[in-house]
Amino acid sequence: MDDRTMAKIIADVRPYSMVSDDALRFSIESAIKTIAAGRTGDIVECGTWRGGASFAMLLAQRHEWGRVQRPVWLMDSFQGLPPADNRDGPLALKWQSETESPLYFDNCSARLEDVKATAERFGFSPEEAVIVPGWFEQTIPAQQGRLAARGICLLRIDCDWYAPVRLVLDHLAPLVTDDGIIILDDYYAWDGCTRATHDYLSAAGLAYRIRSLPSFHGAWIIKRDARESPDAL
Ligand SMILES: C[S@@+](CC[C@H](N)C(=O)[O-])C[C@H]1O[C@@H](n2cnc3c(N)ncnc32)[C@H](O)[C@@H]1O
Repeated sequence: MDDRTMAKIIADVRPYSMVSDDALRFSIESAIKTIAAGRTGDIVECGTWRGGASFAMLLAQRHEWGRVQRPVWLMDSFQGLPPADNRDGPLALKWQSETESPLYFDNCSARLEDVKATAERFGFSPEEAVIVPGWFEQTIPAQQGRLAARGICLLRIDCDWYAPVRLVLDHLAPLVTDDGIIILDDYYAWDGCTRATHDYLSAAGLAYRIRSLPSFHGAWIIKRDARESPDAL
C-alpha cells in the first residue's frame, strides 16, 4: 500500500480512534499481510470504542482488493471500561478516578448507534462490520462457537485492563490460526494488559515471542513457536 493511501485511511478513521497513527498503520499492514499470506479466519477487535481501528482494517481491504475479503468483528460494551483493579496498577486506578481529565474520554464510552451509523457511512454491511455489543463476559463465550468455526487471522486486543484482556486471550487466542497475529494495544500502556499477557502465556505453557510496535505503541505476537526465520509472516 502506498503512503498516500495509508495516510488517507488513517485520516478517514481519525475521528473514531484514540490509537496512534503508528499503531493504526501497524494494524492496517498486519491485516493486509495476514490475508495476503492466506491465513484463514476473520479479523476480531475486542475493545473498539468508536470503531476507528476496525474501520481502518476494513478500508484497507477495500483499497487493496476492491472489496472486503474478511469481516471485521467489533466487540465492545459500548458502555465504557469496567472498573480497574489492583492488577491494573496505580496509573490505571488514578486515570479512572480523574473523571474531569481531557484524557478520560468518558471512561472510553462510545454510543452503539453512532458506531453503526459510521459503519453505514463508510458503506460496510453488517456482514462486513460485525458489531457485537455487550460485556465480553457474556458476548465472547456466546460467540466462541461461531468464531471457532470461522477462525481468526488477526486478533486485535484493545481493552486496557487485566480482566478483559485475560478473558479475550483465554477464549479467543486459541482460535487464532497458526501464524496468525495477535496485537496487544495496551502492552506498554497499562500494567493489567502486560500482566494478563504474561499470565496467559505462562498458564497455557506457550513460548510465543512478544514483539514491539514502533515507538512501543503496543506489542504483537505471531502465533507460532520459535522457528528458524522469526520475521517471516
Ligand atoms: C481504549 S478503548 C478502545 C480504543 C479503540 N480500539 C480505538 O481504535 O480507539 C477500550 C475499549 O474497551 C472496551 N472494553 C473494556 N473492557 C470491556 C469488557 N469487559 N467488555 C466489553 N468492552 C470492554 C471499552 O468499552 C472501550 O471502548
